[in-house]
Amino acid sequence: MAEGRRVVVARFGETPLEAIAEHASLEPMARPDVASLAPVDVVVAIRSAHVNWVDLLMTSGQYQHMAKPPYTPGLEYAGEVVDVGAAVRRVKVGDRVLVDGLLAGPRSLGAYQAYGGFATWGVAPEEAIHPIPGSLGFDEAACLLGSYETAYHCLVARGRLAAGETVLVHGASGSTGLAAVQVAKLLGATVIATGRSEKKLEVVKAQGADHVLPSTGFKDRVKELTSGAGVDVVYDGVGGDVSVESLRCVKFGARFLIVGWAATPFVARGQGGRGAPNANVLPTNLVMMKGLDVLGCPTVISTVMNPAIRAPRLAAVLEWANRGAIRPHVSHTFALGDYRAAMQAKWAGEVVGSAVLHA
Ligand SMILES: NC(=O)c1ccc[n+]([C@@H]2O[C@H](COP(=O)([O-])OP(=O)(O)OC[C@H]3O[C@@H](n4cnc5c(N)ncnc54)[C@H](OP(=O)(O)O)[C@@H]3O)[C@@H](O)[C@H]2O)c1
Repeated sequence: MAEGRRVVVARFGETPLEAIAEHASLEPMARPDVASLAPVDVVVAIRSAHVNWVDLLMTSGQYQHMAKPPYTPGLEYAGEVVDVGAAVRRVKVGDRVLVDGLLAGPRSLGAYQAYGGFATWGVAPEEAIHPIPGSLGFDEAACLLGSYETAYHCLVARGRLAAGETVLVHGASGSTGLAAVQVAKLLGATVIATGRSEKKLEVVKAQGADHVLPSTGFKDRVKELTSGAGVDVVYDGVGGDVSVESLRCVKFGARFLIVGWAATPFVARGQGGRGAPNANVLPTNLVMMKGLDVLGCPTVISTVMNPAIRAPRLAAVLEWANRGAIRPHVSHTFALGDYRAAMQAKWAGEVVGSAVLHA
């Protein structure tokens, strides 16, 4: 039987960096035998796996969803179909596909959680398999759904962002942030993007942002750019001081989208300890005086609570990708054996958009 490899996280670390250094390893992997799988199963030879921020946080159990160690990271991946079960109808050997990370992989619930993307092969049920849309390559396809579904959920479903409005996107150089920049432009909005690195912001500008600003001391410039009015919507994937400063450059009645907290990742305890001893805090006086709508935007949890929101979101993202209106930006590629370097680069903020691993 053919031999492959997979990354295994044996137990949660105190922090992602500790988990990556101490508790993750590259192990041999036998090719999944389709005869011993369910009839609806599809075996995918993985060509590219997205190294998500969430993959990092999961290694220390500081993400809201915990895979049970030992597990293989890799929320999302793309590759080529190499085997199909007897009941599979839509998918055939040789198809170029991407795998839905909500239905298979460590972010999914149930049996397919065991098959992460940091591996030679993945196994997913047919319903999780999509043909790679448009002209996307394996790398771009691997980085599509998580980031763009998040951008859609936040800006469209929650934020009701409309053409002609202005949105302030924090963490714009990140996977979800850059997706938000592209989606906001597609919706006809003006985008003001923030970040810590001028070099990365050049890429953000090239990806469509109308204005780019540093992630501290941006409020006066935002006011100027909006003729004193402030922005209609804030997309906040960063948290901490960035959130608080944002409250001072929003329009009355603005929508403030809580997307994540990349600047304060240790909100929860390490080693899966749960609790939120370091939670972000917003000044309620500013929320009140500015009549703000503060909207929590958990893409996956919202879908679990209301599965009906998934189909239109997925259809929109796949259709946009199909016609080339969106395209994930992948700045770094690593070999599977270099998974530690890949995860460390993501943690250190070296990546613009996304990084991927090649099996
Ligand atoms: N709502 C949802 O459903 C959902 C879905 C996916 C992810 N998330 C969350 O959203 C956040 C971003 O995720 P992502 O996948 O886009 O992560 P990412 O690719 O790592 O991007 C995060 C960006 O935030 C900025 N950042 C990081 N640390 C910072 C700091 N200390 N100060 C200021 N800015 C900092 C960085 O930009 P610069 O270096 O340019 O400043 C970085 O590019 C995370 O908290 C993640 O857990 C939420």
